[in-house]
Amino acid sequence: MSNIGSYEERYKDFTWSVAEKELEFQPGKPLNIGWYCSDRICARGKGDKTALVWESASGAAKTYTYHDVRRLSNTFAVFLQGLGLKPQDRICLFMDKIPELYIGLLGIFKMGGIAQPLFSAFGDESLFVRLDNAQTSAVITQKKHAPKVRKILDKLPNLKHIIIVDHDGKAPLKDRDVAFSLEKADPVETFDAYPSEAETPSLLHYTSGTTGQPKGVKHVHYSLISQYMTARWVLDIRDDDIYWCTADPGWVTGTSYGIIAPWSLGVTQCVMDAGFSAEAWYKFIEKHRITNWYSAPTAIRSLMKAGDEIVKKFDLSSLRQLASVGEPLNPEAVIWSERVFGKAFLDTYFQTETGSIMITNYPDMKIKPGSMGKPFPGIRATVLDPKTYEPYAETGKIGLIGIRPGWPAMMRTYWNNEETYRKKFQNGWYMTGDRASIDKEGYFWFVGRDDDIINTGGHLVSPFEVESALLEHPAIAESAVVSKPDPINMEVVKAFVTLKPGFTPSADLDLEIMNFIRKKLSPLAMPQEITFSDALPKTRSGKIMRRILKAKEWGEEIGDTSTLEND
Ligand code: PRX
Repeated sequence: MSNIGSYEERYKDFTWSVAEKELEFQPGKPLNIGWYCSDRICARGKGDKTALVWESASGAAKTYTYHDVRRLSNTFAVFLQGLGLKPQDRICLFMDKIPELYIGLLGIFKMGGIAQPLFSAFGDESLFVRLDNAQTSAVITQKKHAPKVRKILDKLPNLKHIIIVDHDGKAPLKDRDVAFSLEKADPVETFDAYPSEAETPSLLHYTSGTTGQPKGVKHVHYSLISQYMTARWVLDIRDDDIYWCTADPGWVTGTSYGIIAPWSLGVTQCVMDAGFSAEAWYKFIEKHRITNWYSAPTAIRSLMKAGDEIVKKFDLSSLRQLASVGEPLNPEAVIWSERVFGKAFLDTYFQTETGSIMITNYPDMKIKPGSMGKPFPGIRATVLDPKTYEPYAETGKIGLIGIRPGWPAMMRTYWNNEETYRKKFQNGWYMTGDRASIDKEGYFWFVGRDDDIINTGGHLVSPFEVESALLEHPAIAESAVVSKPDPINMEVVKAFVTLKPGFTPSADLDLEIMNFIRKKLSPLAMPQEITFSDALPKTRSGKIMRRILKAKEWGEEIGDTSTLEND
């Protein structure tokens, strides 16, 4: 039995005031996540405790105490203010998983800015649409990523500063560049954090849309309440734990559970800034005696592929609590983890928009491999009839996952896109856009998305964004992008294109197009396969029918084709 009580007991009368009390937050009083994640921990006598253990692929390592994090986030905040940046300015973090990213997020919160983390593998086009939409004032980045920002600078008149955190003087600073070194700057011992309130915007995370440009999901400081509580009760983070969240803070798991939750709990967390390798991951767990591990199905499937023998080479006995998020966790992965680690990965479900875990397996709750579990205390989730938006009266029917709005980490709107935000609600339910069923015991079973968005390795990719980028290639006349099954990433991006006159399909062109997308958008969005076609299936009104192409890839029934143009 864990120390957090049974699920039923917790669910029964839960209100978020439980978390507010634990965090000593009084409604109406200031709430600044930056302060909660550093100053408050120090004020509670844990300043000398290790907050961050960081390692890079090259073997570099750094350790920071809570006092360090407090002081250095102050230093960041003062530097940003010194540049003239103001509360509510959007400040982008565009970095690998280096300490500056983690500490910089708190620094932005402390000076009242709105942090906009972006995945460092994004190409210039992905970067441009997000910085342009948010009217971002500054980008904090590394010298290796700065050229991507400089490339689009002319189109971003509001972007005043490119802050380089590792400038070494070898190459001169360019237009709008400014150098900042966390290690060399004068440490700032005390700083009055911006007195943000519960509803003050804190963070913008961009997520892919089906038909339009990516949407900026706006979160507020009050999100802390549910991020803290879910981490304590689902990830079961305790005071002496050593926690490892493998997600990148370019995405919601990496901020909600890779920065905010662990540091608000005052726990030691480890970060590995390196690509995937089973051996390196196990070594990391063994070396740091990781107790709580939050990862993703694609990584777990990759570990499974690496085999059982390699697991035996390491002492992984420190592991106590394992959890997974981002995509369907297949039953085999749950069963496998129980066999090799002696612990099953608990599946958890949430979204960029929900900000914190919504539906989840819970310590001490019976696991049904393949099920996402049940709604977290304080969350009313159900499955709705797609026609009436009423919850199904019977169990077992597949419908749309709807959640009653009102939990602390719920997005407040899409940046500059209130209309799309409003469309996310039906009959008083927030519509997740996912399909599932609920069984007799109240367990949720994920079925799939209700739109064309591709979930590749836990990352959402918009077919629309890839199709638009493909059309910018000189050889391409038309494009259609769908998902294709994949044993490790579950889904990968597949493109169908028709060529302009004068171009012929070839292996070289295939590679060139892949590279074009990788550089423009990101490696995640790069099609893993391209089919050159003479024509694409279209409706009589000229809309490309992705559904038909997708059904073929997945070996499914094609369904109704009565509107097909070339019938
Ligand atoms: O389709 C669901 C899938 O990922 C989507 C949310 O993606 P994103 O906003 O990028 O956030 C990812 C990290 C929270 C959901 O709408 N998804 C997330 N968790 C699960 C999942 N699908 C199946 N099982 C899950 N546990």
